Amino acid sequence: MDPKTAQELVDQAISAREKAYAPYSKFQVGAAILTKDGKTYQGCNIENASYGATICAERAAVCNMIANGGTDPIAIAICYNAEEFAVPCGICRQVLSEFSPKGDLTILMAKTDGTYRETTLSALLPASFKLN
Ligand code: THU
Repeated sequence: MDPKTAQELVDQAISAREKAYAPYSKFQVGAAILTKDGKTYQGCNIENASYGATICAERAAVCNMIANGGTDPIAIAICYNAEEFAVPCGICRQVLSEFSPKGDLTILMAKTDGTYRETTLSALLPASFKLN
């Protein structure tokens, strides 16, 4: 995708990360989804005392998109503070595949300094589960 649009989406993920509710792990994650019509939807991780009830930033962004009538995501930026570029967990890859069945969703894997690497959902999840 074009670098300017990608950088703007990465910057949104960095901002969304600041809203993370992560009192248990202290590991803050931000995400931002861009849909075909140019709208964006942010998400952050939301932890819970019952750890398994935690929602990842990527899925929070998907919930935000759906609840606000968004469709056709074309890219998602993900950001957390680590040495490697941010990757979505396995559950989030499967959830993203629900809304990008062909796997052509662009994934922008970012660091908190705004640098990023670009890949696709199909590269990260080559065999998503589908209910036929
Ligand atoms: N987390 C995300 O938000 N996204 C991922 O893809 C991986 C993990 C969150 C969940 C939890 O709040 C914290 O990071 C540590 O696992």
